[in-house]
Amino acid sequence: MERMRRLRVNEAMRSLVRETDLRKTDLVYPVFIMEGENIKNPIDSMPGIYQYSIDCFEEELDKILESGIQAILIFGIPSHKDEVGSQAYDENGIVQKAIRYIKKRAPGLLVIADICLCEYTSHGHCGLIKNGEVLNDETLPLLAKMAVSAAKAGADIIAPSDMMDGRVKAIREALDQSGFYNLMIMAYSAKYASGYYSPFRDAAHSAPSFGDRKTYQMDSSNLKEAMRECQSDIEEGADVIMIKPALAYLDVIKEAANRFDHPIAAYNVSGEYSMVKAAAANGWIDERKIVMENLIGIKRAGAKIIITYHALDAARWLEEES
Ligand code: PBG
Ligand code: ZN
Repeated sequence: MERMRRLRVNEAMRSLVRETDLRKTDLVYPVFIMEGENIKNPIDSMPGIYQYSIDCFEEELDKILESGIQAILIFGIPSHKDEVGSQAYDENGIVQKAIRYIKKRAPGLLVIADICLCEYTSHGHCGLIKNGEVLNDETLPLLAKMAVSAAKAGADIIAPSDMMDGRVKAIREALDQSGFYNLMIMAYSAKYASGYYSPFRDAAHSAPSFGDRKTYQMDSSNLKEAMRECQSDIEEGADVIMIKPALAYLDVIKEAANRFDHPIAAYNVSGEYSMVKAAAANGWIDERKIVMENLIGIKRAGAKIIITYHALDAARWLEEES
């Protein structure tokens, strides 16, 4: 008889045959930095996550450095929004200032800059608007400008999340022209129009003021189309491709991992985090077990890099296990 239980007799045996490992260095922690002073605002829908002004971020930065996590993804919340999202590419915009501050205090920490206009536009869409439509080609130069300004501020990785067609090429060319040919692009390649982003939109003040994002973000039914998105981002110069969200899209992660040799990132998004936190707060699930199971599931599907709001907790639990 096949006796599978031989593989499970004790923890030493189980770890001997364990196929998937999670490492602290796989994790990326997203942070929200807000224009202003003396700010540490809790996000109600994301317990444990805060908006920080730069002067209050030091405490959080120290925690990140102690945790052993080596990369953060930075989102800016400006004090002023307009039709064209000018603060997104202002040399003294909140994200540019935050990157300079972080790279000065922690030069070894990888800083990933999310490149998108929605936090900076008065209408909350990820591109320019004309007659109620989100313009594609007219948006590209602004994204490229934002990428170059983040690069100049010291960002290590550029991560376009807008889902305009051709933006990876536009950004790659602009970076190269400014001398940043060594700067990596991690493209949000298959980003679905998802209900799972709503807590993030509270945190980043980036909800669209009309309509939705379905004309540019992907339809959740589609897998083949996601592969075309990955393929075209790779051809345009993406170094890492990202699938987002993660848990309802593990098949997409797996298919991308089978087809492409580029490193794959998965974004364990805000709504996925909030659901775990809410159930845990009610005592319905064991937070630690659920988080580790979710993160291992994402890795097993084929992601190397996991962007997750659980990163600090997961790093602590991994440390305890080792
Ligand atoms: C901005 C952006 C969003 C997220 C990352 N970058 C929101 C959106 O597209 O509406 C979502 C992240 C999360 O939910 O954790 N384009
Ligand atoms: Zn956006």
